[in-house]
Formats: sequence, structure tokens, C-alpha cells
Amino acid sequence: MHLKILVTAGDGIGPEVTNEAVSVLKEVANIGGHTLELDAKRIGGIAITTDGTPLPADTLAAALDSDAVLLGAVGGNEFNSLPPDKRPEAGLLQIRSALGGFANLRPAFAFKELAINSPLRPEIIDGADILFVRELLGGLYFGQPREWNKATNEAWNTMRYTKAEVVRVARIAFQLAQKRRKKLCSVDKANVLEVSQLWRAAVMEVAAEFPDVALEHQYVDAMAMHIMNRPKDFDVVFTENLFGDILSDEAGVITGSLGMLPSATIGGKVNLYEPIHGSAPDIAGKGLANPLGAILTGALILRHSAGLEAEAAAIETSVRKVLEQGFRTPDLARTNPQGFTVLSTTEMGAKVRETVKTMLVNA
Ligand code: IPM
Ligand code: MN
Repeated sequence: MHLKILVTAGDGIGPEVTNEAVSVLKEVANIGGHTLELDAKRIGGIAITTDGTPLPADTLAAALDSDAVLLGAVGGNEFNSLPPDKRPEAGLLQIRSALGGFANLRPAFAFKELAINSPLRPEIIDGADILFVRELLGGLYFGQPREWNKATNEAWNTMRYTKAEVVRVARIAFQLAQKRRKKLCSVDKANVLEVSQLWRAAVMEVAAEFPDVALEHQYVDAMAMHIMNRPKDFDVVFTENLFGDILSDEAGVITGSLGMLPSATIGGKVNLYEPIHGSAPDIAGKGLANPLGAILTGALILRHSAGLEAEAAAIETSVRKVLEQGFRTPDLARTNPQGFTVLSTTEMGAKVRETVKTMLVNA
């Protein structure tokens, strides 16, 4: 297997965590006799500073010419006063749109070893395993018109979906549910929004193609509560762009740390892989960042862009093993009442690498 990966590490802790993800991928590729062709390009704040734009043309060209893009994080405090289209985040939205992936898969699952990190009681989260499927190219993020009219002191964004846009991502969500526990919860605000009414009607039509999947609908406000009260009741949670943005951060509470969560965006020309966490400028460059979300994102590359399921699972199991053995990055150790071994970013990467190597060599 030959895989061409473009790494767009971005800002803040992005470079540190993607380095560890890449080192784990290299180890796995080596053992299996696969070849990785790696290239690195700028995106986000670093690209604004160096190239004057958050998504330079050569980054986009290299992305379109790769099998998968691994993105670190974008954003920094120095850009916070810029208008939306000039910010680092604009680079991310542009690359998402250009690569065309519309189904953003965001797993949120409880790690038994990290239960103490969650403010939710262990019996609520133990065994919780949700897969969010967030529509990524529509809704308020991309809908036109959008404007802040400073003269009239009005601003507007447009939440817009076509039926076709809902149907194509709904199919992916149902297919994923079929491979899991065969339950799909579609989240909308159909009691208020026309766009949600179209969403719900489209989802019901697609549901007819998947009679083995149990479908339920929830309003987004109620869902925000259900995810906290009874996360174990949900399998695949399917929703539009902004609702998915919000609910997937909320679901980070189940895991105990956003630093653990990976994501994959599929359905377009080139799949895009990003950990869910942000650029965390406050801890950048200090070796404090948790690389496990990025490493698990690497596992998703192997699963969704290379068909290497066993290798992907080996990385996921290794992350669990390392946690079982009591290794933690500072964000996971907190005040460390249990005497965990606290590791730096690179030390944590090395631990996972050693563990996955032992697993695969002995397999
Ligand atoms: C995410 C982030 C992005 C989003 C930002 C950085 C544009 O919050 O991936 O969840 O809103 O989609
Ligand atoms: Mn977000």
C-alpha cells in the first residue's frame, strides 16, 4: 500500500501533535511494508503571517494531489479581531470546501481509564460510544447571503440546505449505523426552522432504504441535555453543520478531554483528517500538548483512506493500553491524585509507537 499524505500542521499545538501522529503512522507503515509519501504545507495563522493568506495556493494544490490530508489545528489570539474571511479559520473552511468532504465523522467515546476526568458520573458515561455525523459543507457556515452591514448595524447569515445535500450525507450516516448498533438519531430544530423541516423529510425518505436501522428525531435543545443525561442511549447522531459543531464539543465531556478525540471528513475528492481540539496557543511549544487525538486521527486515515482496519485498530488499542499503564499527558493527569506517570508530547508519542510496534510485530 502506498499512501500520499499531506500534513498541514497549522498553528499552536498543531505541529507538535501531528508530528507524533506521523511518527506512529511511519512505524505502522514500516512494519506492514507500506510506503508513506509525506509532504508538509502551511495553513491558518502561520500561512497568514508567511504567505498573506490562510490557504496558500500551493497548499491547496498539494492537498488535492494527495490521498489524505492530516490537519493539526488553526487559530491564534493575534487573529481574533480579524473579520471571518481573513482569519485562520477561513483557511480551514476553504480547504474543507475544496476537498469536498461533506460527512464529518466525530466519534465520542468514554475511556474507562479517563472516567475521573469527566464531570459526569462514571455510571452515566461508562460504555458510552457515539458517532457524530456532522454535515460539513452546508448550513450557516457556507449559506449566502451573509454580511455584517456596519452602516445599518445589521448582520445576517443564512442556514440553507438543499434536499440533495441532506440525502447524500444521510446515506453515509445510515450506512455507518448499519455497521454499528443500527440506531440513528437525527437532530434538528423542526419545531421552528423550515430548513430543519426539509432536513427531517429528507432523512425520513432515506430511512426507507435502511429498514434495519432504527431512526429517531430529537430537537437540538433537548439533545444537548440527553447527551449529558443518557449518552449510552445513542449510537449514530446525525446533524447539520452548526448543531454538530456544538454537540460534538459537548460530547467531549463524555471522553473527559477534547484532546482525545479524532475526526475524519469523507465523501469528497480527498478525505480530510483533523483532531477535534483547537490550537491551544496557551500551551503551544511547551511539550504539554496531548497528541492522542492526533494519533487516533492517524488511525482514521488508515481505516478510511487505506483500508488498513487491523492497523487502525492496533493504534486505537495501543492508546488504551498506554492509558491503562498509567501514562498521561498533563491535561489528563490534572492534579494527579492517582500518581500517574506524566509524559511530554513526544514521550507520549513514543509510548504509543512502542506499544503499537509490539502489538503488530507479535500479531
Ligand atoms: C471544528 C472547529 C471549526 C468549526 C472552526 C475552527 C472553523 O470549531 O472543527 O469544530 O467550527 O468547524
Ligand atoms: Mn468546533
